[in-house]
Amino acid sequence: MRHFLTLKDFSKEEILEIIDIGLEIKKNLVSKIYNQELKNQTLGMIFEKSSTRTRVSFEVGMFQLGGHALFLSNRDIHLGRGEPVKDTARVISSMCDMVMIRTFEHSKIEEFAAYSKVPVINGLTDSYHPVQLLADYMTLVEHGVEKNIVAAYVGDGNNMTHSWMILAAKLGFELRVATPSGYEVDAKILEEALAFAKESGAVIKIMNDPKEAIKGATVVTTDTWVSMGQEEEKEERLKVFKGFMVDDEMMSLAKDGAKFLHCLPAYRGYEVSESVFEKHSEIIFNEAENRLHAQKGLMVWLSRHR
Ligand code: CP
Ligand code: NVA
Repeated sequence: MRHFLTLKDFSKEEILEIIDIGLEIKKNLVSKIYNQELKNQTLGMIFEKSSTRTRVSFEVGMFQLGGHALFLSNRDIHLGRGEPVKDTARVISSMCDMVMIRTFEHSKIEEFAAYSKVPVINGLTDSYHPVQLLADYMTLVEHGVEKNIVAAYVGDGNNMTHSWMILAAKLGFELRVATPSGYEVDAKILEEALAFAKESGAVIKIMNDPKEAIKGATVVTTDTWVSMGQEEEKEERLKVFKGFMVDDEMMSLAKDGAKFLHCLPAYRGYEVSESVFEKHSEIIFNEAENRLHAQKGLMVWLSRHR
């Protein structure tokens, strides 16, 4: 049995296989042929943070695969009132066939997985957001640019940045990360990514100058400056991140025809300008929709590896 907690535990071939299954299912969905491979199976979804895309995509995805999904908010289940993670894991995994969790500390999902009898999927932790990267890469494949990725991530060194680093390191492309000083990526995760990069030939560069990162990039991406759980730091962050907005001037430094991705929700006038967002809205909303298709690929893959 395999869990999907970070991309670190997956080989390049496995990541591509998950995306291929997702793309195949997506193709069939258009012609209304439904893959019912998870018929009568149940996905428990524990949310300790807000969500639009993750909730809708997992719930709809499980339904389309013939199964059922349960939305479990920590406001409603006993986990939110102090029932231990390991007890919650043993109970829920005795009844569900798969569990998806969105939470704060990454160690919490690791503990849950250690006690779970069924595959556990990371739907975002403070440290990683791997399902988003499956959708992002699927989108780049659909746009035919996956062979030529020089990616620039501009903004906060957060869960999205960490997952971009691991994806680049596993698949072997170049990633430049520009964050303000003091908001760099986690040093340990960077070290792990660099170790994978050595094997794959990926190039990961860390810097503080967004322009240097974007220069000549074929893919530009960013994320909110204030992640869930950091609301109290908002005022300070908005000051520090000035100069990191991806606007038209920044995008003009990228390679002609460069793609812009955003995991959403997007805060216009902060990490991205309204103009850049709207110019790239087609690919951005394709990326959002691909959460559904990529995660269907993931759930099918996990169920085939039990
Ligand atoms: N991108 C993403 O994970 O969106 P939600 O927070 O809406 O799930
Ligand atoms: N970094 C953001 C991603 C939201 C999908 C957060 O953790 O809030």
